[in-house]
Amino acid sequence: MQFFLDTANLDQICEVRDLGLLDGVTTNPTLLAREGGDWREQASLICDAVDGPVSLEVIATTHEEMIKEAKDLVSFGENVVVKIPMIAEGLKALKELREREIKTNVTLVFSPTQALLAAKLGAAYVSPFVGRLDALSQNGMEGVDQMRTIFDNYGFNTKILVASVRHPMHVLESALIGADVITIPYSTITQLMKHPLTDSGLASFLADWETFQNQP
Ligand code: G3P
Repeated sequence: MQFFLDTANLDQICEVRDLGLLDGVTTNPTLLAREGGDWREQASLICDAVDGPVSLEVIATTHEEMIKEAKDLVSFGENVVVKIPMIAEGLKALKELREREIKTNVTLVFSPTQALLAAKLGAAYVSPFVGRLDALSQNGMEGVDQMRTIFDNYGFNTKILVASVRHPMHVLESALIGADVITIPYSTITQLMKHPLTDSGLASFLADWETFQNQP
């Protein structure tokens, strides 16, 4: 399973990249706005820093405008994947973008049937938002499991990119289901590394060694 970082923050991107865990980055308008400053400059810095796909999202809501924006967004780097919202106009844009060999990530996906439409139209990625569904007492991961079955039934190449991740259990369940990619917030990457028994075990090994070294 590939690990993308769900952020527009360059420090976080470089830190996870330097750990060797970064396969790509996903951004959205909220994440870029959170960084402030010139979003074009920030997007360009992110594309340069990442050796892997970087999702940049369109703001337009008509297919003509989405295609225009997509052409601009791909100028930031060869690794840009254009995020298109899961609306009828977005679906219309997918066909033309595929013809132009522009990779797309269909975002704001909340049901397996939405994912099926995006896959039929040749999206490179679909992004099911699991955390936002969980918050409404719906099981986000159940939908991902169904998407996996549907894509395998028909041999779709579209990758399932689990998004809106809230905690390590989303990572575990995604890996068990066989999602292709998960985009993780920086805080969850940190949680994945930690276990209290690792910390107490290391402390005890080091203390025992220290005692052994100080024996008369
Ligand atoms: O980037 C898309 C998605 O991961 C956003 O998630 O945390 O805003 O629900 P969130």
